[in-house]
Amino acid sequence: MREPGKLLCEAAVIDIKWLNDSYYTLRFHSPEMALRSSPGQFVNLKLSNVKDLLLRRPMSIYRCGKKEGWLEFLLKIVGRGTRTFSHVQPGDEFGLLGPLGRGFDFDDVNDAILVVGGIGIAPLVFLAEEMHARNVNVRFVQGFVSQSEMCCAEELTPFVEELQIATDDGSYGFHGDVVGLLRELIRGKADLTGAEIFACGPNVMMRSLAELCVQENMKAQFSVEAHMACGFGVCVGCPVPLHNRSGYYLACTDGPVFRLGDIDFAD
Ligand SMILES: Cc1cc2nc3c(=O)[nH]c(=O)nc-3n(C[C@H](O)[C@H](O)[C@H](O)COP(=O)(O)OP(=O)(O)OC[C@H]3O[C@@H](n4cnc5c(N)ncnc54)[C@H](O)[C@@H]3O)c2cc1C
Ligand code: FES
Repeated sequence: MREPGKLLCEAAVIDIKWLNDSYYTLRFHSPEMALRSSPGQFVNLKLSNVKDLLLRRPMSIYRCGKKEGWLEFLLKIVGRGTRTFSHVQPGDEFGLLGPLGRGFDFDDVNDAILVVGGIGIAPLVFLAEEMHARNVNVRFVQGFVSQSEMCCAEELTPFVEELQIATDDGSYGFHGDVVGLLRELIRGKADLTGAEIFACGPNVMMRSLAELCVQENMKAQFSVEAHMACGFGVCVGCPVPLHNRSGYYLACTDGPVFRLGDIDFAD
């Protein structure tokens, strides 16, 4: 897995776009950061000149224009930071620290199934785009609470062979959770078990997905959600239990991407 050097820099917002009631994208001009970034890595964002938001907020790299020099993040409003960020305007400056963490390893992958729950989609759009550029067959399976939360189908269409959607309330696509949908797809097409799974979503989804991958003998990589402060291994605030519970990894430096079998999805 790659770990290029990190940068601390100021960058201006060049675009803000709403995708639905609570998801929006922020695009920054940051050529050097864009060049260093790979799928699954994240950047710590801090709005410059706002003193009462002390901690930087970790955000996965959602899309990246390496030639044009931009980086984009997909944010879901869950609290004060993500709400404050949603009020910015083009030209406003952020402090960016990144790219941080170890991203996905897809050097030897030919067939991939990308599995996401909710805002877990953020790192996997960049991954789908990079995989497509390297001729990997990409299938994408998304899960949302409801149709009103759905996003990114348009962005994904050029990069994926197949896009399947599940909603918990049945308002669109498969009625049920995303792991249930994946199970149905695997039962219908035996050849899918040769593909490697790449996933990001809430812990409950990841636990159930890990069980399915073990049953089906499939390889998998998971980008975990953990609370973080520093983002680079100093505060020890982001422990992820080893699979046998004999110790901890740090999500920010050992992850956020881990292989199936390396970690235990804690409650
Ligand atoms: C490596 C990494 C990548 C991430 N990528 C994205 C992304 O691309 N897009 C995105 O919208 N969010 C992402 N997150 C989550 C995001 O960092 C938090 O939602 C954000 O920091 C919350 O800030 P806030 O001030 O709005 O909420 P707060 O007021 O701090 O918290 C509001 C609620 O969100 C919960 N929360 C806060 N941080 C996290 C977290 N890290 N994981 C799970 N729940 C949390 C809190 O427990 C609380 O219930 C990522 C987190 C990590 C660790
Ligand atoms: S966030 Fe500080 S050690 Fe991981």
